[in-house]
Amino acid sequence: MNRKVRTINLSKLQVRPNAFGKLTTGWIVIYLSVFASFNALFAQNQTPQPRPKLRERISFNANWKFYKYDSSSKADDLIYNVRPIVNNYNGQKPADAQPTTGESIQTIQAILKPWILPTGNDYINDPNKYYQRPAGFPGRDFPLVQADFDDRNWDDVTLPHDWAITGPFYQGNNPEVGGSLGRLPSPGVAWYRKKFYPPAEDAQKLIFLEIEGAMSYAMVWINGKLAGGWPYGYTSWQVNLTPYIKPGQLNQLAIRLDNPNYSSRWYTGGGIYRNVWLIKTNPVHIAPWGTFIKTKKATTSLAKVNLTILIHNESNQEAQITTTTSIYQINATGEKTGKAIARSRPTITLIAAGSKTIAENSVEIKNPRFWGPPPTQTPHCYLAVTTLYQNNIPIDSHETRFGIRTLRYEPDSGLIINNELIKIKGVNLHHDLGALGAAFNRRAAERQLELLREMGCNAIRTAHNPPAPELLELTDRLGFLVMEEAFDMWVMQKNPHDFHLIFPDWYEQDLRAMVRRDRNCPSVIIWSIGNEVGEQYTGEEGAALARRLSAIIKEEDPTRPVTCAMNWAKPDMPLSQVLDVISLNYQGEGIRQDPAFEGTDRIRTTPQYAAFHQKFPQKVILSSETASTFSSRGVYLFPVTEKSSDFIRAEQGGDTQFHHVSAYELYAADFGASPDKVFGALESHPFVAGQFVWSGFDYLGEPTPYYEARSSYCGIFDLAGFKKDRFYLYQAEWRPDLPMVHILPHWNWPERIGLVTPVHVFTSGDEAELFLNGKSLGRKTKRTLEYRLRWDDVRYEPGELKAIAYKKGTKWAEEIIKTTGNPAQLQATVDRGKIRADGKDLAFITLKVTDKAGLTVPTATNLIELDIEGPGEIVATDNGDPTDFTPFPARQRQAFNGLALAIVRAKPGASGRIVVTAHSSGLEKAQIIIETH
Ligand code: GAL
Repeated sequence: MNRKVRTINLSKLQVRPNAFGKLTTGWIVIYLSVFASFNALFAQNQTPQPRPKLRERISFNANWKFYKYDSSSKADDLIYNVRPIVNNYNGQKPADAQPTTGESIQTIQAILKPWILPTGNDYINDPNKYYQRPAGFPGRDFPLVQADFDDRNWDDVTLPHDWAITGPFYQGNNPEVGGSLGRLPSPGVAWYRKKFYPPAEDAQKLIFLEIEGAMSYAMVWINGKLAGGWPYGYTSWQVNLTPYIKPGQLNQLAIRLDNPNYSSRWYTGGGIYRNVWLIKTNPVHIAPWGTFIKTKKATTSLAKVNLTILIHNESNQEAQITTTTSIYQINATGEKTGKAIARSRPTITLIAAGSKTIAENSVEIKNPRFWGPPPTQTPHCYLAVTTLYQNNIPIDSHETRFGIRTLRYEPDSGLIINNELIKIKGVNLHHDLGALGAAFNRRAAERQLELLREMGCNAIRTAHNPPAPELLELTDRLGFLVMEEAFDMWVMQKNPHDFHLIFPDWYEQDLRAMVRRDRNCPSVIIWSIGNEVGEQYTGEEGAALARRLSAIIKEEDPTRPVTCAMNWAKPDMPLSQVLDVISLNYQGEGIRQDPAFEGTDRIRTTPQYAAFHQKFPQKVILSSETASTFSSRGVYLFPVTEKSSDFIRAEQGGDTQFHHVSAYELYAADFGASPDKVFGALESHPFVAGQFVWSGFDYLGEPTPYYEARSSYCGIFDLAGFKKDRFYLYQAEWRPDLPMVHILPHWNWPERIGLVTPVHVFTSGDEAELFLNGKSLGRKTKRTLEYRLRWDDVRYEPGELKAIAYKKGTKWAEEIIKTTGNPAQLQATVDRGKIRADGKDLAFITLKVTDKAGLTVPTATNLIELDIEGPGEIVATDNGDPTDFTPFPARQRQAFNGLALAIVRAKPGASGRIVVTAHSSGLEKAQIIIETH
């Protein structure tokens, strides 16, 4: 694909007057000829120091000022590029609607793209394709980028920050931001400003700003000069501040973000929603993410790992650099412990001034501890510390977390890790963290992984974009397998303002940045170049593009396979040929096979596992998306389908009035299938490597089938992280050795006395007997390809339901559920009673409305009010109801089917007792004490 560099008619460049007063039109034509190259800069400043400081990586999350224009139409004109005008936007297209041709834009309006593109040059392989920065400093006279601009009235924010999550929600019909984006104000243009004071000795340094994720079209000004930026909101990137920074003086950063409406099929959030770092290095330094560790040999007695180290010499002299690497054990927080357990021999490399070179180190580790997924293996990680020396003086030191493991893909069985077949029991995760929004929080993500682990899940797919790097620190530490995905679309669009607009200019940089950042993570087992892309439909042309993307990944990492999630491409279609591993979305089970879909213009296909296996006997097949089963936690609708998988309509699993889906866990998207049907398809095709369920947790936006709502229905957990019944269906299958049995629905049906109220039982046993008020309703055995036990003719009477499960004829597990009394009290439990006062750590409090006996009232909707005393704050509340429009920061939250959630954060630096009290009119209150230190 040809990259087009726009030529701009400079005389036409203008900035419109706006809320900040009349702005000059001269910013673009003032050509600052003193734009210093690094070489020139360091020629002047390089006074050799006996012991230069090594690399510093300083958190830059604190003390930002924030301002968002109240509407995009009132924002300034410092745009990356113009966008197509959107008419007749359809925000409720089915997820598997065929993507359409992308738009190209014709304009003479001033755009800043030419100044932004060079930021990605380090991620372009061919130096001839580097973008040249045009002359001038766009926006240099714009008030918001000036140091003396008065931002005292702006909001004080600490990063990570999501400007949209506090709401309020847009409600009603035809809102400005619809259900697909979670009805939250993520679209818009906003600025972040920060002052900082680099010490005078930084004049010797290269200084980079590293942004782990900014949503989106970030552009960075420092001291009034546009330094660069990055459009794709999910990529981590660096911008070099060195030419513009003023050591020994007060410096001003100003970052503009522009998050377009109609740019996503789900909630993006808005803002600098991941960490930001200031990185200082010497002129000769290891490139960002410049190390790559490959395991060459791995036996129980010896592992041999090779490191390639990309070194930049940005000084004006040739440098002779000695490189060594030492290996350390690592603790739970990722820090090295003890002495080095192995060291490489030094290697000596000569690097010409202004150039890059790769140095290699190799290290042998005796009796290595392997990285592998629990429960059968342990996820052991090591830390490699690579040091550069010049004239025997250390000048850079760089840490790389890695693991030793072998990975093999076997077409007839699946994934082999350290010689053990590991079936993928995975889920898809979006990047938002429910009520906390897109702002990454390590504890919130860790809690999700802990809950998934309890279910027996061992893998996640980062749908459909690179995650926060901290998520991968967690998956490395906890031993989850990761399919890391780059894009949801390429050239073909799914929405008028989505990534297709920037794809042609940025796909190479985004892919290389993703792989370089994460290729040392042992948890990453496969790269995905895309999800359900429109290029499935464009035959050879689409396949050629896939080949190009796959080649880029392999240049950065030849050790892992490349895949792409396909919901349409069939075995004989060109895209399928390109991929190392075949990843199917829903096709394995078949799509829209019900006779009701005959004649549809949507995707309709017979089950495809066998066909793919036959066509590609040498390739592994996995399901990158299964199920898309929908449900609202604790909502049961009648009648219940007799099928083992059904699609949702009014009176068929769907409540069109209150916008809920029945939690019998039998109802799926038109193209999806119930978990039962998916299990059946996998069991019948044992060569399939496993599945990633759509989705682990409910997420913000994409509330199919009810776009009146705010969040999705497809999670195994609801948005608050509460288990839906489905949790137990997966647990039964994924943890067969855990004795468990689960009954649904709840047993509070005063209006159904005498009516047929089906009872379903999920168990890891193979049989169960059900009792209603002590009377047996029969013992049932799971038949072949059956995953639940159903008593579909039970007539409701209040009292007690008991299930006794058996495995191989012996009692295995028992559960009793009872009709409860009226709400009488609140009960509170907390996930951890002690949290760190670091401004990040969180406590998750579950609030239950119970009867006098302490049984959760499964239909309770009482309004709960929260008080907090001590050094903590309530960050958000939720209840997992996709239709609840109470803003997340509210301290009052209605219970949804008996439950509500409060998320508490300790004030940074404080220690003491945080006391959270929950009240509700007519109910006994509950209290939780959290210690912070
Ligand atoms: C899939 C899509 C996912 C999500 C899901 C909803 O087709 O890949 O991103 O939209 O449907 O059911």
